[in-house]
Amino acid sequence: MLEKIDRLLAEISSFSAKTNEELVSFRIKFLSKKGIISDLFDEFRNVSASSKKEVGLKLNELKQRAQDRYNTLRLELQSFDVRSVTSDLTRPSYPWSNGTRHPISIVRNEIIYIFERIGFTVSEGPEIEDDDHVFTRLNFAPEHPARDMQDTFYISRLSSEDSDPRDIVLRTHTSSVQVRVMENQQPPIRTISPGRVFRNEAISARAHCIFHQVEGLYIDENVSFADLKQTLLFFAREMFGKETEIRLRPSYFPFTEPSGEMDISCSICGGRGCNVCKYTGWLEVLGCGMVHPVVLEASNIDSRKYTGFAFGMGVERPAMLKYQVNDLRLYFENDIRFLEQFRTAF
Ligand code: DAH
Repeated sequence: MLEKIDRLLAEISSFSAKTNEELVSFRIKFLSKKGIISDLFDEFRNVSASSKKEVGLKLNELKQRAQDRYNTLRLELQSFDVRSVTSDLTRPSYPWSNGTRHPISIVRNEIIYIFERIGFTVSEGPEIEDDDHVFTRLNFAPEHPARDMQDTFYISRLSSEDSDPRDIVLRTHTSSVQVRVMENQQPPIRTISPGRVFRNEAISARAHCIFHQVEGLYIDENVSFADLKQTLLFFAREMFGKETEIRLRPSYFPFTEPSGEMDISCSICGGRGCNVCKYTGWLEVLGCGMVHPVVLEASNIDSRKYTGFAFGMGVERPAMLKYQVNDLRLYFENDIRFLEQFRTAF
Protein backbone atom coordinates (compact mmCIF):
# COMPACT_ATOMS: atom_id res chain seq x y z
CA MET A 1 0.00 0.00 0.00
CA LEU A 2 2.84 2.37 0.82
CA GLU A 3 4.27 1.89 -2.65
CA LYS A 4 0.96 2.56 -4.24
CA ILE A 5 0.67 5.82 -2.31
CA ASP A 6 4.15 6.86 -3.43
CA ARG A 7 3.22 6.21 -7.04
CA LEU A 8 0.09 8.30 -6.70
CA LEU A 9 2.02 11.15 -5.03
CA ALA A 10 4.33 11.26 -8.03
CA GLU A 11 1.41 11.19 -10.43
CA ILE A 12 -0.33 14.03 -8.61
CA SER A 13 2.64 16.35 -8.59
CA SER A 14 3.28 15.86 -12.31
CA PHE A 15 -0.38 16.22 -13.32
CA SER A 16 -1.14 19.27 -15.42
CA ALA A 17 -4.51 20.61 -16.56
CA LYS A 18 -4.84 22.82 -19.64
CA THR A 19 -8.59 22.64 -19.87
CA ASN A 20 -11.52 22.57 -17.50
CA GLU A 21 -12.23 18.99 -18.56
CA GLU A 22 -8.79 17.89 -17.45
CA LEU A 23 -9.28 19.65 -14.13
CA VAL A 24 -12.60 17.90 -13.65
CA SER A 25 -11.11 14.52 -14.50
CA PHE A 26 -8.39 15.14 -11.90
CA ARG A 27 -11.01 15.83 -9.28
CA ILE A 28 -13.03 12.78 -10.19
CA LYS A 29 -10.01 10.48 -10.28
CA PHE A 30 -8.48 11.56 -6.97
CA LEU A 31 -10.91 13.53 -4.86
CA SER A 32 -14.43 12.28 -5.53
CA LYS A 33 -16.30 9.82 -3.30
CA LYS A 34 -15.63 7.04 -5.78
CA GLY A 35 -12.04 8.20 -6.44
CA ILE A 36 -8.76 6.39 -5.79
CA ILE A 37 -8.06 8.08 -2.45
CA SER A 38 -11.46 7.29 -1.10
CA ASP A 39 -10.92 3.63 -2.10
CA LEU A 40 -7.60 3.62 -0.26
CA PHE A 41 -9.31 4.88 2.87
CA ASP A 42 -11.69 1.91 2.56
CA GLU A 43 -8.76 -0.50 2.20
CA PHE A 44 -7.09 1.12 5.18
CA ARG A 45 -9.45 -0.81 7.43
CA ASN A 46 -7.64 -4.05 6.50
CA VAL A 47 -4.12 -2.76 7.21
CA SER A 48 -2.46 -4.66 10.06
CA ALA A 49 -2.36 -2.93 13.41
CA SER A 50 1.42 -2.62 13.35
CA SER A 51 1.51 -0.61 10.09
CA LYS A 52 -1.64 1.42 10.73
CA LYS A 53 0.19 4.46 12.03
CA GLU A 54 2.67 4.74 9.15
CA VAL A 55 0.14 4.04 6.44
CA GLY A 56 -2.40 6.39 8.03
CA LEU A 57 0.00 9.31 8.04
CA LYS A 58 0.97 8.68 4.44
CA LEU A 59 -2.63 8.42 3.37
CA ASN A 60 -3.50 11.74 4.96
CA GLU A 61 -0.54 13.34 3.24
CA LEU A 62 -1.76 11.96 -0.09
CA LYS A 63 -5.19 13.42 0.42
CA GLN A 64 -3.78 16.81 1.38
CA ARG A 65 -1.42 16.88 -1.61
CA ALA A 66 -4.19 15.99 -4.01
CA GLN A 67 -6.37 18.79 -2.66
CA ASP A 68 -3.50 21.31 -2.81
CA ARG A 69 -2.64 20.27 -6.36
CA TYR A 70 -6.27 20.66 -7.38
CA ASN A 71 -6.41 24.19 -5.96
CA THR A 72 -3.21 25.17 -7.71
CA LEU A 73 -4.34 23.74 -11.05
CA ARG A 74 -7.62 25.56 -10.78
CA LEU A 75 -5.96 28.90 -10.10
CA GLU A 76 -3.55 28.38 -12.99
CA LEU A 77 -6.41 27.61 -15.31
CA GLN A 78 -8.29 30.75 -14.29
CA SER A 79 -5.37 33.09 -14.77
CA PHE A 80 -4.58 31.34 -18.05
CA ASP A 81 -8.12 32.13 -19.25
CA VAL A 82 -7.94 35.77 -18.27
CA ARG A 83 -4.65 36.31 -20.02
CA SER A 84 -5.83 34.80 -23.28
CA VAL A 85 -9.20 36.58 -23.38
CA THR A 86 -8.21 40.10 -22.38
CA SER A 87 -5.30 40.47 -24.68
CA ASP A 88 -6.04 44.16 -25.23
CA LEU A 89 -7.13 45.82 -22.01
CA THR A 90 -7.73 49.15 -23.74
CA ARG A 91 -10.30 47.93 -26.24
CA PRO A 92 -13.81 49.41 -25.92
CA SER A 93 -16.40 47.39 -24.04
CA TYR A 94 -19.27 45.58 -25.71
CA PRO A 95 -22.19 47.84 -26.64
CA TRP A 96 -25.02 47.13 -24.18
CA SER A 97 -28.48 48.00 -25.36
CA ASN A 98 -30.87 49.14 -22.67
CA GLY A 99 -34.08 47.20 -22.21
CA THR A 100 -37.45 48.83 -22.75
CA ARG A 101 -40.66 48.63 -20.81
CA HIS A 102 -43.47 46.50 -22.12
CA PRO A 103 -46.19 48.71 -23.71
CA ILE A 104 -48.78 47.28 -21.32
CA SER A 105 -46.60 48.26 -18.34
CA ILE A 106 -46.16 51.75 -19.79
CA VAL A 107 -49.90 52.32 -20.12
CA ARG A 108 -50.64 50.71 -16.75
CA ASN A 109 -48.08 53.01 -15.10
CA GLU A 110 -49.60 56.03 -16.83
CA ILE A 111 -53.03 55.12 -15.46
CA ILE A 112 -51.62 54.58 -11.96
CA TYR A 113 -49.77 57.88 -12.09
CA ILE A 114 -52.93 59.83 -13.01
CA PHE A 115 -54.89 58.38 -10.10
CA GLU A 116 -52.01 58.67 -7.64
CA ARG A 117 -52.02 62.41 -8.24
CA ILE A 118 -55.58 62.64 -6.93
CA GLY A 119 -54.94 60.59 -3.84
CA PHE A 120 -55.53 56.98 -4.88
CA THR A 121 -53.28 54.31 -3.42
CA VAL A 122 -52.34 51.12 -5.28
CA SER A 123 -53.46 47.75 -3.96
CA GLU A 124 -52.95 44.30 -5.35
CA GLY A 125 -54.51 40.91 -4.79
CA PRO A 126 -53.94 37.30 -5.82
CA GLU A 127 -54.46 36.08 -9.38
CA ILE A 128 -55.56 32.69 -8.06
CA GLU A 129 -58.66 33.55 -6.08
CA ASP A 130 -61.63 31.93 -4.46
CA ASP A 131 -65.13 32.17 -5.85
CA ASP A 132 -66.09 34.22 -2.82
CA HIS A 133 -63.90 37.20 -3.72
CA VAL A 134 -64.40 36.99 -7.48
CA PHE A 135 -68.17 36.48 -7.49
CA THR A 136 -70.18 35.85 -4.34
CA ARG A 137 -69.25 38.92 -2.36
CA LEU A 138 -69.65 41.05 -5.47
CA ASN A 139 -73.32 40.09 -5.54
CA PHE A 140 -73.18 37.59 -8.40
CA ALA A 141 -76.18 35.30 -8.02
CA PRO A 142 -75.25 31.61 -7.62
CA GLU A 143 -76.43 30.78 -11.12
CA HIS A 144 -74.95 33.89 -12.80
CA PRO A 145 -73.58 32.99 -16.27
CA ALA A 146 -70.23 34.70 -15.59
CA ARG A 147 -69.40 31.86 -13.21
CA ASP A 148 -69.89 29.42 -15.99
CA MET A 149 -67.01 27.25 -17.14
CA GLN A 150 -67.11 29.13 -20.46
CA ASP A 151 -65.68 32.27 -18.92
CA THR A 152 -63.89 31.14 -15.82
CA PHE A 153 -60.81 29.00 -15.48
CA TYR A 154 -61.42 26.74 -12.52
CA ILE A 155 -58.35 25.57 -10.63
CA SER A 156 -60.41 23.27 -8.46
CA ARG A 157 -64.09 22.78 -8.16
CA LEU A 158 -64.90 21.65 -4.66
CA SER A 159 -68.02 19.92 -3.50
CA SER A 160 -70.13 20.96 -0.55
CA GLU A 161 -68.78 17.95 1.36
CA ASP A 162 -65.31 19.52 1.50
CA SER A 163 -64.43 21.22 4.75
CA ASP A 164 -63.92 24.47 2.83
CA PRO A 165 -66.30 24.22 -0.12
CA ARG A 166 -65.07 27.19 -2.13
CA ASP A 167 -64.10 26.95 -5.78
CA ILE A 168 -60.65 28.21 -6.62
CA VAL A 169 -60.47 30.15 -9.88
CA LEU A 170 -58.19 32.40 -11.90
CA ARG A 171 -59.71 35.81 -11.29
CA THR A 172 -61.78 37.02 -14.21
CA HIS A 173 -61.59 40.66 -13.13
CA THR A 174 -59.66 42.83 -10.67
CA SER A 175 -62.91 43.69 -8.88
CA SER A 176 -61.89 40.85 -6.52
CA VAL A 177 -59.26 43.21 -5.08
CA GLN A 178 -62.04 45.62 -4.05
CA VAL A 179 -63.36 42.91 -1.77
CA ARG A 180 -59.92 42.24 -0.31
CA VAL A 181 -59.38 45.94 0.37
CA MET A 182 -62.83 46.37 1.95
CA GLU A 183 -62.40 43.39 4.24
CA ASN A 184 -59.13 44.78 5.57
CA GLN A 185 -59.82 48.48 5.75
CA GLN A 186 -62.60 50.80 6.84
CA PRO A 187 -63.45 53.95 4.81
CA PRO A 188 -62.20 56.33 3.66
CA ILE A 189 -60.89 54.04 0.93
CA ARG A 190 -59.44 55.44 -2.27
CA THR A 191 -57.51 52.84 -4.18
CA ILE A 192 -56.76 51.46 -7.62
CA SER A 193 -55.86 47.85 -8.31
CA PRO A 194 -53.94 47.01 -11.45
CA GLY A 195 -53.46 43.36 -12.41
CA ARG A 196 -53.75 40.43 -14.75
CA VAL A 197 -57.05 38.71 -15.33
CA PHE A 198 -58.00 35.49 -17.09
CA ARG A 199 -60.97 34.38 -19.14
CA ASN A 200 -61.57 31.28 -21.14
CA GLU A 201 -61.68 32.97 -24.55
CA ALA A 202 -60.43 31.82 -27.93
CA ILE A 203 -57.28 33.78 -28.75
CA SER A 204 -57.57 36.16 -31.72
CA ALA A 205 -56.42 39.63 -32.76
CA ARG A 206 -59.18 41.14 -30.60
CA ALA A 207 -59.44 38.74 -27.65
CA HIS A 208 -57.03 36.92 -25.38
CA CYS A 209 -57.38 34.59 -22.42
CA ILE A 210 -55.02 36.81 -20.40
CA PHE A 211 -55.37 40.56 -20.22
CA HIS A 212 -54.92 43.44 -17.79
CA GLN A 213 -57.33 45.64 -15.89
CA VAL A 214 -57.16 48.56 -13.50
CA GLU A 215 -59.90 48.68 -10.91
CA GLY A 216 -60.84 51.80 -8.97
CA LEU A 217 -62.67 52.11 -5.66
CA TYR A 218 -63.61 55.17 -3.64
CA ILE A 219 -65.66 54.83 -0.46
CA ASP A 220 -66.36 57.57 2.05
CA GLU A 221 -69.29 59.51 3.49
CA ASN A 222 -71.30 61.40 0.85
CA VAL A 223 -69.59 60.03 -2.25
CA SER A 224 -71.93 60.67 -5.16
CA PHE A 225 -72.31 59.88 -8.83
CA ALA A 226 -71.14 63.43 -9.56
CA ASP A 227 -67.81 62.56 -7.90
CA LEU A 228 -67.54 59.50 -10.12
CA LYS A 229 -68.24 61.51 -13.25
CA GLN A 230 -65.76 64.24 -12.36
CA THR A 231 -63.04 61.72 -11.51
CA LEU A 232 -63.55 59.90 -14.79
CA LEU A 233 -63.55 63.12 -16.81
CA PHE A 234 -60.28 64.13 -15.15
CA PHE A 235 -58.81 60.72 -15.94
CA ALA A 236 -59.98 60.72 -19.57
CA ARG A 237 -58.49 64.14 -20.28
CA GLU A 238 -55.17 63.30 -18.61
CA MET A 239 -54.95 60.01 -20.41
CA PHE A 240 -56.33 60.76 -23.87
CA GLY A 241 -55.85 64.52 -24.23
CA LYS A 242 -57.36 67.78 -23.02
CA GLU A 243 -60.00 67.87 -25.77
CA THR A 244 -61.46 64.48 -24.81
CA GLU A 245 -65.20 64.31 -24.12
CA ILE A 246 -66.85 61.54 -22.15
CA ARG A 247 -70.33 60.06 -22.18
CA LEU A 248 -71.94 57.64 -19.77
CA ARG A 249 -74.40 55.00 -20.88
CA PRO A 250 -76.55 53.00 -18.47
CA SER A 251 -75.37 49.44 -18.01
CA TYR A 252 -75.55 46.54 -15.59
CA PHE A 253 -73.01 45.02 -13.21
CA PRO A 254 -74.11 43.00 -10.18
CA PHE A 255 -71.79 44.92 -7.85
CA THR A 256 -72.86 48.47 -8.75
CA GLU A 257 -76.19 50.27 -8.76
CA PRO A 258 -76.67 52.33 -10.83
CA SER A 259 -74.08 51.08 -13.31
CA GLY A 260 -72.68 52.75 -16.38
CA GLU A 261 -70.24 52.38 -19.21
CA MET A 262 -68.04 55.26 -20.17
CA ASP A 263 -67.14 56.14 -23.74
CA ILE A 264 -64.55 58.71 -24.76
CA SER A 265 -64.63 60.77 -27.92
CA CYS A 266 -62.48 58.88 -30.40
CA SER A 267 -58.86 59.83 -29.78
CA ILE A 268 -57.94 58.90 -33.34
CA CYS A 269 -60.39 61.08 -35.32
CA GLY A 270 -61.41 63.49 -32.55
CA GLY A 271 -65.03 62.28 -32.81
CA ARG A 272 -65.53 62.89 -36.52
CA GLY A 273 -65.70 59.17 -37.29
CA CYS A 274 -63.07 56.69 -38.47
CA ASN A 275 -62.65 52.96 -38.77
CA VAL A 276 -61.25 52.64 -35.22
CA CYS A 277 -64.46 54.03 -33.69
CA LYS A 278 -66.50 52.38 -36.45
CA TYR A 279 -67.69 55.84 -37.53
CA THR A 280 -69.53 56.41 -34.24
CA GLY A 281 -67.06 58.99 -32.91
CA TRP A 282 -66.99 57.15 -29.53
CA LEU A 283 -64.86 54.46 -27.92
CA GLU A 284 -65.90 52.36 -24.96
CA VAL A 285 -63.22 52.37 -22.26
CA LEU A 286 -64.60 51.34 -18.88
CA GLY A 287 -67.42 50.10 -16.68
CA CYS A 288 -68.39 51.94 -13.53
CA GLY A 289 -71.11 52.65 -10.99
CA MET A 290 -72.03 53.28 -7.38
CA VAL A 291 -70.97 50.37 -5.17
CA HIS A 292 -74.04 48.24 -4.41
CA PRO A 293 -75.01 48.44 -0.70
CA VAL A 294 -75.10 44.63 -0.63
CA VAL A 295 -71.41 44.61 -1.61
CA LEU A 296 -70.52 47.07 1.15
CA GLU A 297 -72.41 45.06 3.76
CA ALA A 298 -70.81 41.78 2.59
CA SER A 299 -67.48 43.26 3.68
CA ASN A 300 -68.79 44.79 6.91
CA ILE A 301 -69.01 48.38 5.73
CA ASP A 302 -72.04 50.27 6.99
CA SER A 303 -74.02 51.13 3.86
CA ARG A 304 -76.17 53.70 5.70
CA LYS A 305 -73.10 55.70 6.59
CA TYR A 306 -70.91 55.17 3.54
CA THR A 307 -71.36 55.27 -0.21
CA GLY A 308 -68.80 54.70 -2.91
CA PHE A 309 -68.07 54.44 -6.56
CA ALA A 310 -66.07 51.90 -8.52
CA PHE A 311 -64.82 51.51 -12.03
CA GLY A 312 -62.85 48.98 -14.00
CA MET A 313 -61.01 49.31 -17.28
CA GLY A 314 -58.90 47.18 -19.53
CA VAL A 315 -55.29 48.21 -20.20
CA GLU A 316 -54.95 46.61 -23.64
CA ARG A 317 -57.59 48.83 -25.27
CA PRO A 318 -55.96 52.19 -24.38
CA ALA A 319 -52.58 50.67 -25.29
CA MET A 320 -53.94 49.74 -28.71
CA LEU A 321 -55.24 53.27 -29.16
CA LYS A 322 -52.05 54.87 -28.00
CA TYR A 323 -49.72 52.79 -30.14
CA GLN A 324 -52.10 51.90 -32.97
CA VAL A 325 -51.31 48.24 -32.48
CA ASN A 326 -54.37 46.36 -33.54
CA ASP A 327 -53.43 42.76 -32.83
CA LEU A 328 -53.65 41.84 -29.14
CA ARG A 329 -51.44 38.81 -29.58
CA LEU A 330 -48.39 41.01 -30.16
CA TYR A 331 -48.56 42.05 -26.50
CA PHE A 332 -48.03 38.48 -25.34
CA GLU A 333 -45.47 37.10 -27.77
CA ASN A 334 -42.57 39.11 -26.34
CA ASP A 335 -40.90 39.47 -29.71
CA ILE A 336 -37.93 41.75 -29.06
CA ARG A 337 -38.42 43.47 -32.44
CA PHE A 338 -41.87 44.56 -31.26
CA LEU A 339 -40.90 45.42 -27.70
CA GLU A 340 -37.88 47.55 -28.46
CA GLN A 341 -40.03 50.08 -30.30
CA PHE A 342 -41.42 51.39 -27.00
CA ARG A 343 -39.33 53.95 -25.20
CA THR A 344 -40.70 56.15 -22.49
CA ALA A 345 -40.14 57.89 -19.19
CA PHE A 346 -42.65 55.66 -17.40
N1 DAH B 1 -65.30 44.01 -13.43
C1 DAH B 1 -65.88 44.53 -14.64
C2 DAH B 1 -65.41 43.71 -15.82
O1 DAH B 1 -64.48 42.97 -15.71
C3 DAH B 1 -65.47 45.96 -14.84
C4 DAH B 1 -66.11 46.86 -13.85
C5 DAH B 1 -67.32 47.43 -14.12
C6 DAH B 1 -65.49 47.13 -12.66
C7 DAH B 1 -67.94 48.25 -13.22
C8 DAH B 1 -66.09 47.98 -11.74
C9 DAH B 1 -67.33 48.53 -12.03
O2 DAH B 1 -65.55 48.29 -10.56
O3 DAH B 1 -67.91 49.37 -11.14
O4 DAH B 1 -65.99 43.77 -16.87
